[in-house]
Amino acid sequence: MKSLIVYFSHRHENYVNGNIVELEKGNTQVIANQIHEMIESNIFEIEPLHEYPVHYHDCTELAKKELETQARPKVKNIIPHFEHYQKIYLGFPNWWSTMPMCVWTFLESYDFDGKDIYPFVTHEGSGFGKSIQDLKMLIPYANIHQGLAIYGHQVQDSFKQIQKWVGDSNGNNKKAKQYHNKMFPGYESKLLETDPEFITLFDNFAFDEIINHDDLDDYTRHIAILAMLIGCQGIDEYKAMLKAAYQFQVTPVEMKEIVYQATAYLGIGRVFPFLHATNEFLVSQGISLPLEKQAQTNRENRLEKGNQAQIDIFGPAMDGYYKSGEAEIQHIRYWLTDHCFGDYYTRNGLDYRHRELITFCFLTAQGGCEAQLSSHIQANIRLGNDKSFLIQVLSHCIPFIGFPRTLNALKCVQKA
Ligand SMILES: Cc1cc2nc3c(=O)[nH]c(=O)nc-3n(C[C@H](O)[C@H](O)[C@H](O)COP(=O)(O)O)c2cc1C
Repeated sequence: MKSLIVYFSHRHENYVNGNIVELEKGNTQVIANQIHEMIESNIFEIEPLHEYPVHYHDCTELAKKELETQARPKVKNIIPHFEHYQKIYLGFPNWWSTMPMCVWTFLESYDFDGKDIYPFVTHEGSGFGKSIQDLKMLIPYANIHQGLAIYGHQVQDSFKQIQKWVGDSNGNNKKAKQYHNKMFPGYESKLLETDPEFITLFDNFAFDEIINHDDLDDYTRHIAILAMLIGCQGIDEYKAMLKAAYQFQVTPVEMKEIVYQATAYLGIGRVFPFLHATNEFLVSQGISLPLEKQAQTNRENRLEKGNQAQIDIFGPAMDGYYKSGEAEIQHIRYWLTDHCFGDYYTRNGLDYRHRELITFCFLTAQGGCEAQLSSHIQANIRLGNDKSFLIQVLSHCIPFIGFPRTLNALKCVQKA
């Protein structure tokens, strides 16, 4: 449904920054036109039957008199099918601390009950004055939303502010914004300028609808998101989400361990850029590299420790797995034990539960490894990451890896 923009604006002489200047277009009209370009809307100018005087002082005198006598100057035009509009952007200049009286006439001429009103005002210092109070008195059953007040002489430089306000009125959800601010304190996405509609949809989904669907904690969510982003090769988003993860107490050691372990599941060909991105981020935070050592095994005991890790994670049936299978593939099983489990899983920095969680994320996000995914789902469940927890994790990763890979993983979880 289209919105309606209704405004009154007085062109000709006006008071700007202490001087009287001739305006070709009224200040309020400039904003009304900008809003009109931003959203699907019809625009309507309130035109008084008798125009206000061209000269500033004559105009202020008449306006004052109209206010004092509570005049209702006639408006010459009417809005067709007013009842069809739900959302109305109402713009006016501040005249003697309230709305010009022709706007009062306008407000009394239509039924505003239940309508959503977004007021905007231009002024030279008094903001809305008492106009919101008057508005509430004149149309008591309308929903009057947060307004926008702009200095008249700044209307040409206020595009961003207007865009943001219009974005908010169009569904930029408060909760999504709050969460975004928690992840990236003080940062405004550039996409709000270039792709306001898209980013609003995305943020509302990712940072309100999903976040508030369950109680998965921020720390775990961000570990999973980093691992999923490596799994799906989302390097630019990974760089952005490292900052958020850091805000939610994912430590530098944990970030590094996620990347290192990913190498066993994605190969260095796919992990290399993530390693560099993580290093760049940590250095930008003043953290010196290398980080402290986390290895718990050495060349001599990695096979034995890896074997033990497999037993601890998958169960006693895994004992001696590295010696099993046909001779021609045994060396690969051996490497799985001494390298993947002996070198990576045994490291400090992440416990088995979190290591299995990130493996679940690597496998889910890269797709096409459902066989391995299913056995790691079993391992996750053994370690306490039960089915409902894994479903929660998958739900939170949908915006980052999309629906199809999520649904494939979901099937594996449900079958487990
Ligand atoms: C009759 C009149 C009364 C005004 N009274 C106020 C006022 O009380 N407070 C204020 O900040 N600006 C006041 N102004 C300045 C206007 O609000 C400001 O210039 C506004 O941007 C004009 O918008 P327009 O060009 O769309 O008419 C007044 C201007 C006029 C013409």
